[in-house]
Amino acid sequence: MGRKSAKGKERKLRRKEENEITEHLWKLVAEANKIDDPLAPLVSFQKYNKNGLNLTISCHKRESVEEDILLWALNLTKSNMESLYEESGWGWKDRDKLQEMKDDNARYLIVKNEDEKPVAFIHFRFDLDYGQPVVYCYEIQLESEVRNKGLGFFLMQILQLFAIKNSLFKVSATILRINDKSMDFFMRKLKFTEDETSPDDECYMIVSKLARVKT
Ligand SMILES: CC(C)(COP(=O)(O)OP(=O)(O)OC[C@H]1O[C@@H](n2cnc3c(N)ncnc32)[C@H](O)[C@@H]1OP(=O)(O)O)[C@@H](O)C(=O)NCCC(=O)NCCS
Repeated sequence: MGRKSAKGKERKLRRKEENEITEHLWKLVAEANKIDDPLAPLVSFQKYNKNGLNLTISCHKRESVEEDILLWALNLTKSNMESLYEESGWGWKDRDKLQEMKDDNARYLIVKNEDEKPVAFIHFRFDLDYGQPVVYCYEIQLESEVRNKGLGFFLMQILQLFAIKNSLFKVSATILRINDKSMDFFMRKLKFTEDETSPDDECYMIVSKLARVKT
């Protein structure tokens, strides 16, 4: 009897601790979500003037992204990804992708050229993923004329900084296994690794990189 009740107490205490930890981790996500523009203090990351590009980068909550920019982002994603989605078995539906892009928690990095024309974007969210507070990269899409000039790398560095500044554990992303260029970009160039939550038997992989400040 005595042992049983001691065990019960232990379980209760453990549950309490677990709840407190979850609450703390949710708080980190909630605090990050309160920030209107996390790019504002990172002045040197608001421009990309390299390799012949002269671009400006801005950060927006979903509700402040104009409808025509959102439609451009949908069409760019479609032209870059539709055949890969079809080939992998996911299939492509404009409506589903638009719904994902219009989620209340969606945030955007939007890159424009000197003519104010959008040329690249990232859709990301501050979220709790399998119990861990993360910056989740839902989409990174570049127009073909700005690819292979280091811009994708630069934009992903911004997400790493958002994670570090907000004490979130890592940056995560989902990539299709058949998307060779993206696999090379994330695994070789960015040094992401397959996440512990990534499934073995799916057409996609979850990859992540810990948000650690270099010492
Ligand atoms: C994948 C993508 C985001 C990379 O951004 P980027 O600005 O072109 O990449 P960077 O210039 O920063 O880095 C280039 C690296 O990406 C990879 N890469 C990009 N394009 C590639 C290509 N055509 N062939 C092979 N590797 C490629 C390589 O690892 C390359 O490394 P290297 O410079 O050492 O050769 C961009 O090419 C893109 O938008 N592609 C189409 C959409 C897409 O697949 N998005 C990813 C969905 S998960």
